[in-house]
Amino acid sequence: MDGFPNTKYRTIETRRIAGSLGAVVSGVNLAEPLTDDVLAEIRLALLENLVIFFRNQDMTPERLLRFARHWGDIHLHPYMAGMPDHPEVLELAKKAGDKRNFGGDWHTDQMFAPRPAMGTMLWAKQVPDAGGDTLFSNQYLAYEALSDGMKRLISGIRGMCVGDRKKGGATRAAVNAATISMKTIEPPPDMPKVSPHPLVRTHPETGRKSLYIGGHVHYLEAMTEEESAPLIQYLYQHSQRPEFTCRFRWEPGSLAFWDNRCTMHFAINDYPPDTRVMHRVTIRGDEPF
Ligand code: SIN
Repeated sequence: MDGFPNTKYRTIETRRIAGSLGAVVSGVNLAEPLTDDVLAEIRLALLENLVIFFRNQDMTPERLLRFARHWGDIHLHPYMAGMPDHPEVLELAKKAGDKRNFGGDWHTDQMFAPRPAMGTMLWAKQVPDAGGDTLFSNQYLAYEALSDGMKRLISGIRGMCVGDRKKGGATRAAVNAATISMKTIEPPPDMPKVSPHPLVRTHPETGRKSLYIGGHVHYLEAMTEEESAPLIQYLYQHSQRPEFTCRFRWEPGSLAFWDNRCTMHFAINDYPPDTRVMHRVTIRGDEPF
């Protein structure tokens, strides 16, 4: 059993898995169409817990997309190829021999896009017997824990976010192509190389402020990379503090739904000879403010 039950919901039950964020939702079969009442409670559970988890869900790409579309349009990944019959669904596959995994650093999804993903749904098709957990971090708490001086300092600053950033001379897409069994694609011609986003963003539904400092922040607006690095590094380390996080242990059929507007996540790469296969859908978000 995960956590402690929350009894205020009528159609679902939620149990927190950590003090800062994350709850397992039960009483829902996502393979079936859902009523408006259930959807409204899932929305509330997401806003309250920032990331919610469902166990034993019999999902197909069509069912995953049907559930995701309740939250908005699907956001296509500009650099990674979707499944041949379902381009909106990414199959994240890490197989024996792959050196890297997808999402193995602290980030929030598609922060490099002018309208980053509002939310992400990830369904576990195959998981290792041990390992392959995902960490999540509450960025409201990360912002609130900063001093007043730091909050003032960063309030007007925008981070310049880059998707296909060079690492050791090679682009991220080229590194991915060489080290993980997932196909990369050329981004659409209108995809900007850099997207500026505020370091402190306001959640459009809760009105709360959070830190917005994923691994895609390359430098700060109107500063050089060298000038930006110490502040970016400080905020990035701060955003990952253990007391802001939870850790989710996957089982086949588990589904996670997280709010990218106030969380970060990290897929742990600790299962070298094993295979992990996940299906991921991201939902289009607003321009951060
Ligand atoms: C991701 O960053 O979307 C992948 C997370 C995971 O595979 O656990």
